[in-house]
Amino acid sequence: MLRSALPLLLCLGTAVPWMGEEHQEDYKHGRRDAEPHSDKAFCSWKCLKFTLQWPGGFCVSLDSWSHCRIPLNIHNWTIHGLWPQRVLNCCHCWPIFHSDVQELEAELAELWPSLLKTKSSFLFWKQEWDKHGVCAACVEGMNSPLRYFQISLKLRGQFDIHKALDAAGIQPSCQRPYKLSEVQSALAPVLGDQHEIQCVTDDKDREVWFQVKIPLSHNLTVGCAHQPPPRDEAGPGRSFSPGHPCPAQLPLFYFPIDHEQPHRPCG
Ligand SMILES: *[C@@H]1O[C@H](CO)[C@@H](O)[C@H](O)[C@H]1NC(C)=O
Ligand SMILES: *[C@@H]1O[C@H](CO)[C@@H](O)[C@H](O)[C@H]1NC(C)=O
Repeated sequence: MLRSALPLLLCLGTAVPWMGEEHQEDYKHGRRDAEPHSDKAFCSWKCLKFTLQWPGGFCVSLDSWSHCRIPLNIHNWTIHGLWPQRVLNCCHCWPIFHSDVQELEAELAELWPSLLKTKSSFLFWKQEWDKHGVCAACVEGMNSPLRYFQISLKLRGQFDIHKALDAAGIQPSCQRPYKLSEVQSALAPVLGDQHEIQCVTDDKDREVWFQVKIPLSHNLTVGCAHQPPPRDEAGPGRSFSPGHPCPAQLPLFYFPIDHEQPHRPCG
């Protein structure tokens, strides 16, 4: 539990003293209120986006050189991230360690896997924590790596995209395209009206659905009154995203997951 105390100490730039038993208890559940100056910059967010990705489309969004890999146990929507909106930079003061999320490892591996051969799942989680989680941690209930990932897993359970689509007869297919409006009305009851459906254009000029962003309020209810207008980017700090809002006038493809040829599931 000593590790929980490290971020605080790093922020303050002090040497690491031995922490007594009672201190360990103090720091066990997350960051204490020790950085009022920096809190202002990265705790002022009002909205979050919870982003889920469809592996069948996500790998299409990357070229074959990117070494996309869909683990064999993955057949479903996975988490991309939980992102506070309009924060420029989270502080680099709260390192995450593998042991922080050990108890969630099995669930995270299934619901939040890295789809890149070159990136371990833990590295993916670490990057998401460093870039977004540290800011999300301003809110009670998300104020530790463990809690941030727990909340994310809970949200993934709450937003059962698969079920909503299935009920509307929307299933992955190489042949059958869907209308954007059809997908939106299937998802609106679960994800709210403000959700964003994102596509990539594949090498045959098809619009391929790969991601959905769900706006949430500070308190994690669906929708956000302070929601900034949708922008074509994956989140703060990310310089490149191949995605764009799926055009309403074009057919939208919801490709199946192909573990053998992840980046070209439909030829
Ligand atoms: C996808 O996950 C949902 C629960 O989120 C589950 O009901 C469904 O059966 C899963 N689908 C597949 C193809 O595994
Ligand atoms: C959550 O926050 C929103 C917007 O601030 C508010 O309208 C809503 O009543 C809150 N819900 C709960 C359960 O606190």
